[in-house]
Amino acid sequence: MRIILFGPPGAGKGTHAQILSRKWQVPHLAAGDLLRSHIRELTEVGKKVKAILERGELVPDVLINELIAVELRKPVARRGFILDGYPRTLGQADALDEFLKGKNENLDVALYFKTSVDVVIDRLTGRRFCPECGANYHIRNIPPKVSGKCDRCGASLVERSDDRPETVRRRLEVYEKDTAPLLNYYQVKGFLEEVPGDFDVDELQAVLAKVLERHGVRESIR
Ligand code: AP5
Repeated sequence: MRIILFGPPGAGKGTHAQILSRKWQVPHLAAGDLLRSHIRELTEVGKKVKAILERGELVPDVLINELIAVELRKPVARRGFILDGYPRTLGQADALDEFLKGKNENLDVALYFKTSVDVVIDRLTGRRFCPECGANYHIRNIPPKVSGKCDRCGASLVERSDDRPETVRRRLEVYEKDTAPLLNYYQVKGFLEEVPGDFDVDELQAVLAKVLERHGVRESIR
């Protein structure tokens, strides 16, 4: 399984990537999580990107391309990957193509989570996540069993600093300018599948299962 998930902030990419990763036993490579872990660990990369994430802008292609390539070269990615939030520019999409070509591999499908702005705003303002294990929640849609605590590891849930309304607005603008052009890029290559990001989690998982089956993913790994 080699798939990419793209769509606006709050479309549900991370939520669905986590479910698919558990189901198919392939790594979930989330560009944003990778960058946030560098920020938490105060690495040189983290120091460079912290302010960029806080502004809701994109980090330079060359930096994220290298971080993702390192992940894709790991043995665990041999049986596939779920890329969440990467690629996000045409330059990144070209870099991924080159990387896969070098390994004689192809994408199975590029899933575009088409999501309305109202839904995005509601989801981002209600999002809580676990800083320990990365699990995602929503205060109304997907609440934890115990308020404010992670179901999986019990850690206290937090809000993301880039979910402030003014940063969300900037992230949406950046998405329209830099990431929306990927729609055409993957359509031309025949990899694009549009899925309804507004659906609730179970409904969308059912859609995703059918799409993946249609692309032969089921047969190729089981
Ligand atoms: P990143 O972390 O990738 O953020 P994003 O793409 O803006 O997406 P989000 O994580 O906000 O949303 P999501 O679609 O994963 O939704 P989620 O599942 O959490 O990137 C952050 C920053 O890092 C960027 O702004 C940029 O600075 C930098 N960056 C990252 N990648 C980069 C790249 N390739 N190049 C350059 N810079 C990069 O869901 C949201 C909420 O809704 C949750 O609370 C969830 O529980 C709830 N929810 C989800 N689905 C549903 C549903 N179906 N029904 C009801 N509730 C739902």
